[in-house]
Amino acid sequence: MKLILSDFSCKLRLKKLNFTPMILVTGGTGLVGSHLLLQLLKGDEPIRAIYRRDKTLSRVKNVFSYFSDDADILFNKIEWVEADVNDIPKLQDAFKNITHVYHCAAFISFEPDKYRALRRVNIEGTANIVNLSISHQVKKLCYVSTIAAIGHHSNPKKLIDEQTEWSPENDNSIYAITKYGAELEVWRGTQEGLDAVIVNPGIILGAGYWNDGGSGSFFQRIYNGVPYYTSGVTGYVDVWDVINVMEELMKSSVKNEGFILVSENLSFKSFFTKTALNLGVKPPKKEASSWLLGIGWRLDWLNHKLFGSRRRLSKQTAKSAVSNTKYDASKIKNSINFEFKPIDTSIKEVSTLFLKNL
Ligand SMILES: NC(=O)c1ccc[n+]([C@@H]2O[C@H](COP(=O)([O-])OP(=O)(O)OC[C@H]3O[C@@H](n4cnc5c(N)ncnc54)[C@H](OP(=O)(O)O)[C@@H]3O)[C@@H](O)[C@H]2O)c1
Repeated sequence: MKLILSDFSCKLRLKKLNFTPMILVTGGTGLVGSHLLLQLLKGDEPIRAIYRRDKTLSRVKNVFSYFSDDADILFNKIEWVEADVNDIPKLQDAFKNITHVYHCAAFISFEPDKYRALRRVNIEGTANIVNLSISHQVKKLCYVSTIAAIGHHSNPKKLIDEQTEWSPENDNSIYAITKYGAELEVWRGTQEGLDAVIVNPGIILGAGYWNDGGSGSFFQRIYNGVPYYTSGVTGYVDVWDVINVMEELMKSSVKNEGFILVSENLSFKSFFTKTALNLGVKPPKKEASSWLLGIGWRLDWLNHKLFGSRRRLSKQTAKSAVSNTKYDASKIKNSINFEFKPIDTSIKEVSTLFLKNL
C-alpha cells in the first residue's frame, strides 16, 4: 500500500512538474519545420504542430514522401493545431502540456514594404512564443534564427563567429533586423528563467520547396537557367544538419547559447555552377558586377513605384550578392562534436530529389 501511495504521489508530482515530454513545432509547414517533424517522429514523444492554412499541409506530406513510403501514416501521427504566432488565444491551446518548443516559424522577405509584417511575425510572434513558453513552464526552447542576425566585420577576410557584434549602424536588411529583434526576445526570455538555444544557419539546402521563393527555389531557378552569377560569398548548410543539431541541442544540457550552422562558405558562382552541373544544365557564365546590380535594384524600385510590381532586388540584397561574408562554425563542432555534411553531397542529394520531382 505504502508503495502504491508513494508511486501515486510520485506520478502526481511528475505530472505537476510536467515531466511527460510533449513537443510543439512552429513553422511545421516550412522547409525546416517539415524535415524536423519527420525526424522527431522517429522518437517516442507526442508531437503537436501549428499551421495556418490547410493548403500548406500538403507540402509536409510531400516532403515526407521523399523519404518515406508511409508519408500519410506519419503525417497523421502529428497533432495539427490551427494557430498563427500572433494569435495568442489559439497559441494558448497549442501550448497545453507542452514541454519542448522548436520555433521555426518566420516570415522571410527582403521587400522593404514588408517591414511591418516582418516585425509582427518575427519579433512579436517570437515574443508570444517566449512568453507562452515561460507561462507554461516549458523546459527548453530552440529558436531558428539565421546568420543574417549576426554582425559583420569590416575586414571581409576575418571569419564571422558568434562573438561578432551586431551593429545597428550597418546597412542591415529588414529580414536581418527582425530576426535579430526576435533573438533579443529569446535572450529576454532566458533572463526570465527560460532555457533556450538559438541556431543561426546559413543558406539551408533541402528538398520540397521548389517554388516558394525561399532557399528551396534556388534549384528551380538554376534549373530554369540563370545567366548571371555574383561574386559574393556566404555560408551554406544541409537541412538535415540543421535538424540534427537542433535535436541534439534540445536533448543536451547546453542552454542559453547561440550557434552558427555553416558547413562551408562558398561563392555564389561556385554554388550556382555546382548546382547547375548536378541538375544537368548550363552554369551561368557572366558576372553581375556591383555596378550592374546597383542599376538593377534602382530599376526594380522604379518598376515597383510606377507599376506596383513586386520588389525582387533591394539595395541590401544587391549588396549581399557581392559581399564576402565567411562564417566560422567551430563552436557547434566543438560543443557537441558535430561534423557537417559536405555541401557537394548536399547539392547532389537535393538536386537528385528535384529531378525526380520533375
Ligand atoms: N531557408 C533558409 O535558407 C534559412 C536560412 C537561415 C535561417 N532560416 C530560418 O529558418 C526558419 C525556417 O525557415 P524555412 O526556410 O523553413 O521557411 P519557410 O519554408 O518559409 O517556412 C516558414 C514557416 O513559418 C510559418 N509562418 C509564417 N508566418 C507565420 C505566422 N504568422 N504564424 C505561424 N506560422 C507562420 C509558415 O507557415 P505557412 O506555411 O502557413 O506559410 C511556414 O511553416 C526561419 O526562422 C528562417 O528565418 C532559413
